[in-house]
Amino acid sequence: MRPTIGPFPATRLRRTRKSAAIRALVAENSLSASDMIWPVFVRDGEGIEEPVPSMPGVVRRSVDRVVEAAREAADLGIPAICLFPYTGDAHRTADCAEAWNPDNLSNRATRAIKAGVPDIAIMTDVALDPYSDTGHDGFVRDGEIVNDETTEALIKQALSQAEAGVDIIGPSDMMDGRIGAIRAALEAKDHKNVLLLSYAAKYASAFYGPFRDAVGASGALKGDKKTYQMNPANSDEALRLVERDLSEGADMVMIKPGMPYLDICRRVKDTFGAPTFAYQVSGEYAMIKAAAQNGWIDGDKAMVESLMAFKRAGCDGVLSYFAPDLARALA
Ligand code: PBG
Repeated sequence: MRPTIGPFPATRLRRTRKSAAIRALVAENSLSASDMIWPVFVRDGEGIEEPVPSMPGVVRRSVDRVVEAAREAADLGIPAICLFPYTGDAHRTADCAEAWNPDNLSNRATRAIKAGVPDIAIMTDVALDPYSDTGHDGFVRDGEIVNDETTEALIKQALSQAEAGVDIIGPSDMMDGRIGAIRAALEAKDHKNVLLLSYAAKYASAFYGPFRDAVGASGALKGDKKTYQMNPANSDEALRLVERDLSEGADMVMIKPGMPYLDICRRVKDTFGAPTFAYQVSGEYAMIKAAAQNGWIDGDKAMVESLMAFKRAGCDGVLSYFAPDLARALA
């Protein structure tokens, strides 16, 4: 029931905005470092931090530097880090076998972080795009991204990540049936407490461009991802995908990208009440950074405002490249 709003001047809505103290008292939502999952890019080598040109302030780190970054993130109160491997052409093959190599970059980074920073949760990505010669998230047969054969590979990839010790597995591939298949495989191999954060409503988006540069997939990708990622015109379909993934064993769900899809976040949270996350993707980060670098907007204020919007839209947390910047700005 809505409270009745009296007529002016009994009601002056500006009263509750009169000072910082009063505004703080009536704030409906809050934002903190503990809402953040920080995506990081991992590369080969040692002592390396290599800038990603299309994402100012973001670097690809060698494993030793990722461990240092994880330590800093944990100290800033960021609960989770999400690993994305930057793979050279040598590791991109038709069979994508590097995806389930126990010693691939992602698994080596997982073990190193677990050893050095046991208090941060580690999330990893399940999809074949870092390892495929086509840049697609699945196997391509006669021009089709094949579903069931891809799922078999995703199971192997997920199990290798669980063996390495990850806390949260994030299938970002958008194949049908992969959540149920991965969940069953994890149960069978006694990885009962590994969480699945499903990229449930993932749209075929232009905002992934800088990420594909960061992981070295831009050159590889042939065609687009529209037969598996969602049509930006759709909203009911997102609810069906979320319901399906929750029923198959997802612990948490994600909407991606973030800012252009806040309506989806709200519908998903209101409909299911499940732990709901959004991914503020690379293109969203790049837009804010680029405008700030040009002096067109205040970068820190735009960052905080954009992240608060996710909380207002019903999200429990956000994957964002801003995570450490946010934590420092709030500290
Ligand atoms: C691929 C994957 C993508 C992102 C996360 N996992 C890109 C894609 O689907 O092409 C995008 C993240 C970002 O843009 O920040 N499995």
